[in-house]
Amino acid sequence: MFDILPERAGDDPAIEALLDRSFGPGRFAKTAYRLREGVEAVASLSFIALAEGKLIGSIRFWPVQVGFTPALLLGPLAVEPALVGRGIGLGLMKRGLQSAQEEGHRLVVLVGDEPYYARVGFARVPPGQLFMPGPVDPARLLVRELVAGAFDGVSGEIRRWPG
Ligand SMILES: CC(C)(COP(=O)(O)OP(=O)(O)OC[C@H]1O[C@@H](n2cnc3c(N)ncnc32)[C@H](O)[C@@H]1OP(=O)(O)O)[C@@H](O)C(=O)NCCC(=O)NCCS
Repeated sequence: MFDILPERAGDDPAIEALLDRSFGPGRFAKTAYRLREGVEAVASLSFIALAEGKLIGSIRFWPVQVGFTPALLLGPLAVEPALVGRGIGLGLMKRGLQSAQEEGHRLVVLVGDEPYYARVGFARVPPGQLFMPGPVDPARLLVRELVAGAFDGVSGEIRRWPG
């Protein structure tokens, strides 16, 4: 019904349009975008969902530092609004997280709904352990280890990388 494949040269306009439809025009004001300004997404971890040749989903990851530990920021993740609930979002995440693990990344953070992201192993960051460079609902700040123990002893600010 849909395929997941690496983002291709030229997909960017369709992805930006999908993100506008999914998140609305205010998306650039989100704190997570401060971590993306002036930094490219990790190209090898950018995936799209395609159905009948049409781009219907996208996931990207950004490099960040968590305290002094390198990590990935998951997102944005978006699925064509008319096609939600068919496993496309989870499929994109599983592919992205698996590739990240294979590439040797150890830790992923994101801002999002815990009940959804818990399905792929994310959990709430304990209050006060990490903070973002702007306001964020602490209940939505989530972490997932790609290597057991990678989050042990990690604390501090999530920052852009390279700063
Ligand atoms: C969130 C989003 C990526 C989910 O994509 P999707 O392809 O519909 O997700 P899937 O089909 O893989 O998973 C659907 C399941 O997750 C559940 N789910 C979806 N969004 C959820 C949420 N925010 N909280 C809890 N559960 C959620 C659905 O109820 C469904 O459950 P079911 O399998 O028991 O029926 C998509 O709705 C979207 O693009 N939303 C707008 C942009 C956005 O909010 N992105 C995430 C930013 S944090």
